[in-house]
Parts: sequence; structure tokens; C-alpha cells
Amino acid sequence: MSLLDGHLALFRCPRCGGGLARTGGPLHCSGCRQEYPVPEDGMPRLFWPNEWEGDRLDVTDRIKAFYEATPFPDYDGFDDVSSLIEKARRGFFAKLLDDQVPVGALILECGCGTGQLTNFLSVANRTVLGTDICLNSLTLANDFRRRHGLDGAFFCQMNLFRPCLRPASFDLVISNGVLHHTADPFLAYRTIAGLVKPGGHLIVGLYHKYGRIYTDLRRRLFHLTGDRFKFLDRHNVNPRLSQAKRRAWFMDQYKNPHESKHTIGQVLGWVEALGFSFVKSIPKTVPFQPFLENENLFADEEPGSAIERFLVEAGQALTGADEGGFFIVIARRPGP
Ligand SMILES: C[S@@+](CC[C@H](N)C(=O)[O-])C[C@H]1O[C@@H](n2cnc3c(N)ncnc32)[C@H](O)[C@@H]1O
Ligand SMILES: [Zn+2]
Repeated sequence: MSLLDGHLALFRCPRCGGGLARTGGPLHCSGCRQEYPVPEDGMPRLFWPNEWEGDRLDVTDRIKAFYEATPFPDYDGFDDVSSLIEKARRGFFAKLLDDQVPVGALILECGCGTGQLTNFLSVANRTVLGTDICLNSLTLANDFRRRHGLDGAFFCQMNLFRPCLRPASFDLVISNGVLHHTADPFLAYRTIAGLVKPGGHLIVGLYHKYGRIYTDLRRRLFHLTGDRFKFLDRHNVNPRLSQAKRRAWFMDQYKNPHESKHTIGQVLGWVEALGFSFVKSIPKTVPFQPFLENENLFADEEPGSAIERFLVEAGQALTGADEGGFFIVIARRPGP
């Protein structure tokens, strides 16, 4: 049985929130009667537009078109499950997640791109649903999953502002590098937070306001010089990456049609506004407290004082040069 049929109760109509039923082919909403295709690749097309009122800025179509042309982060031609595991575990955050998220957990990734993290986390018998608006990325993700028999991973097309999922269902919701490519990051945060089970966790990675300064400077320089100084970003010239991956990085970092920048303090405000509790951030909210190799991701930490946080945030301007100025905040929904 496919994950869709096995977990149909998890899915909802992104248009009206009604239950979905399926007899073979497409999904049907029992409320508004909307039909959603499930083509041969098995990935339900559950995208629904924002339908925001008035002249409110909505970048979804532009962002979707951008990533359809340049799926991110893409795969290297020779990637298989062992290289996926090896590369993911090289990044300390994915390794810690893999070590600490229990086997059997139900995980949602919002904005999974080409699905590396979803596929990786599914290897250890977890059920991981990867969602994105971009079909070309999802197709690469799903092809990898199928080729390597990763039965715990599942992909579907979803706009995170219009979830096609039952609220409060997931042990862990992850969204890395996504919310800053939307027109309303707080609304995006609030919407995906609603999918976390009581007692479950929400992990969000965003561009940092000060950590992004170097990327902004390089973008300006590249723009002024017709991209002649591309080599100043070490990923653009990393011989260990395929040309497709290098291009995906370059486009994502320097030609993106929309990005916003944030601070840990701002996300702390979001966490509080939703009644979630702060667990941990990377970097930590207290200066000179390194993130340990065996750090317990889900052990609560007191957020540092305003002054300590200011020092950490300002320090991002010194440390954000290479990885595009990124920070992560882990929060917990109250509950058992
Ligand atoms: C920079 S990529 C990050 C991909 C992946 N999370 C990673 O860390 O490699 C941003 C992704 O967010 C997706 N995205 C942007 N807006 C979205 C939305 N409203 N709903 C779902 N996905 C969205 C894009 O299609 C793109 O695949
Ligand atoms: Zn409906």
C-alpha cells in the first residue's frame, strides 16, 4: 500500500480543509468536491494558491517559476543512498537529527526542494513527508526515492500557506531555507506550526540579517561585473560539486527573486506569540557557547538575555561569510 493510501486520514483539502477520499486515481474533497490529480509518479498535486485579498504582495508564483527552472539543491550524478548518508552526516545538523529523532517518528518537511533531507531521514525507518511547490524539484526527489527503494519517504506538492494536511499531526516539522522566500514569513511560521503535534517540535532555518551581509556584497559585485567574480564564493568553484549543483547554489544565493532576512530575537518573538517554547538555536543565544558535536537538539535551553543575544546576532556578521548566513531555531509545541 502506498503511503498516501496508508495515511489518507492525514491529508486534507488545501482549499476548504475537508477530508479527502480516493478510489484509485485522484483525490476528492468531501467538502468542496475539488479533485486533485495523483499521476503515475504517485505524488499528489495538492497545491492551492494563497488567494490573499487586495494588492497584498504574493511571491509564490515567481518563486515557483524560479525553482522550476533551477531545482535546489539538486543531486550529483553519482549520488546513491550511501553518498546521500555520507554527505548528510558530514553536515553536523543532519547528523544530529538522524541520531536523535526517534525511529518511527512522523516528520514533515515544508519546502523540501530536491528532497535530500526527507530521503535521508527516512532511511532509519521514519515516515517523512517532503512537500514543496516546485514539481521539478519534487520529481528529482521522488526519482531518487524510487530508485533507491526508500519506502518511508513520500513527496507531494503543497503550498505551505495552504496545507493539505490534518492540523497537529506531526512529531517534527522542518523548514530549512524556505520561509525567507515567501512574502509573509511569520504567517508561514504560524501556518506550519499548526501542523506540529502537542509536544512535537518545529525546526526552522532562516537567513540572518547580519550574517547575510557578505552574500549581499558579493551579489552586488557579481551584478556589476557580469558575474566575473563568481569565484569569490567558494561553492561556485568547489570541484567536488557537480556543475548542476554549483549552478543551483549560485542561482539560489545570487539570483533569487525574493528573500528576507531575520534575527534569532525575531523568531523568539514568533515562538512566544504562538505559545510554543524555545528549545535551542544554532548559533546559541549566549556568546561563546559552542554548539557541541553531541549536542542534544531537543534539550531545552534558556534563551540568553537581550545583551547576550545582541552579541550573538552581531557576531553573525563575522561568521556568516561562507554558508550564506544561516541560523536555526528549534521550538516545542506545549503538550504531553
Ligand atoms: C532554498 S530552497 C531550500 C530547499 C531545502 N529545504 C534545502 O534546505 O535544501 C527553497 C525551497 O522552498 C520552496 N518554497 C518556496 N515557497 C514555498 C511555499 N509557499 N510552499 C512550499 N514550498 C515553498 C521552493 O520551491 C524551494 O524548493
Ligand atoms: Zn475542499
